[in-house]
Amino acid sequence: MKGIILAGGTGTRLFPLTKVTNKHLLPVGKEPMIFNPIRQLISTGITDILIVTSKEHMGDVVGLLGSGYDVGCDFTFKVQDRPGGIADALALAEGFAGGERIVVILGDNILTHSIRPYIEGFKKQTSGAKVLLKKVGDPERFGIAALDERSKMIIQIEEKPQDPKSDHAVIGVYMYDDKVFDFIRNIEISERGELEITSVNNIYAERGEMTYATVDGEWTDAGTFESLKYANDLLLSIDNRIKE
Ligand code: DAU
Repeated sequence: MKGIILAGGTGTRLFPLTKVTNKHLLPVGKEPMIFNPIRQLISTGITDILIVTSKEHMGDVVGLLGSGYDVGCDFTFKVQDRPGGIADALALAEGFAGGERIVVILGDNILTHSIRPYIEGFKKQTSGAKVLLKKVGDPERFGIAALDERSKMIIQIEEKPQDPKSDHAVIGVYMYDDKVFDFIRNIEISERGELEITSVNNIYAERGEMTYATVDGEWTDAGTFESLKYANDLLLSIDNRIKE
């Protein structure tokens, strides 16, 4: 399997912190934010990693990460010209994936425990996709899943619902088979002008091909001032080391 970290976007919710730098380069604990998803992938044994980021910040990202030699992995970089959404960024990974299965992590998602068990679970799946869930107190901020708890399948995901039907947030870690790039070609731009990852996930869900697992340990995004502070405290408390 190959790993993809999406680190584009504008980070407007963190302005002016993100006026001249990329959100994923801001400090979280003792390291830049992007190190947490990198460490996550390495903890699962994935070392072939694509980083997608904006053209404005690609130079800084490459300057920070280099070839990957220092952290024991092999980085490839791709530019997302405009912040067209998470699925738009993922579309750039088709050539890199080369028909293999992929794990995608949003660059602002922070986890304290390794996702290795869920990757192992996905490897046993014959096809389809898998998402990871966490219960939240503010479901309006996330993709929210309707579940079939008996079969462990996702029925549907609603992106930032005004009237959430559950408190199971879909976190920014997604596992896909090679159909994902065809599905991205078939979705439409949302009302907020983006190609939404939730639209892609709902194609898998409708086909009965999307499983889920609920993550152990702590998870947060770090895209708002409040969640950035929370992520910072969380990673400081574990010295930025991911628990196996
Ligand atoms: O954090 C989990 C949530 O992430 C999910 O529950 C939602 O379903 C999912 O849509 C996403 O929601 P956000 O509104 O938090 O996504 P955001 O626009 O903040 O983008 C998250 C990351 O995706 C960002 O850190 C970098 C990457 N990204 C985003 C956009 C819009 C890109 O690489 N390119 C983009 O154009």
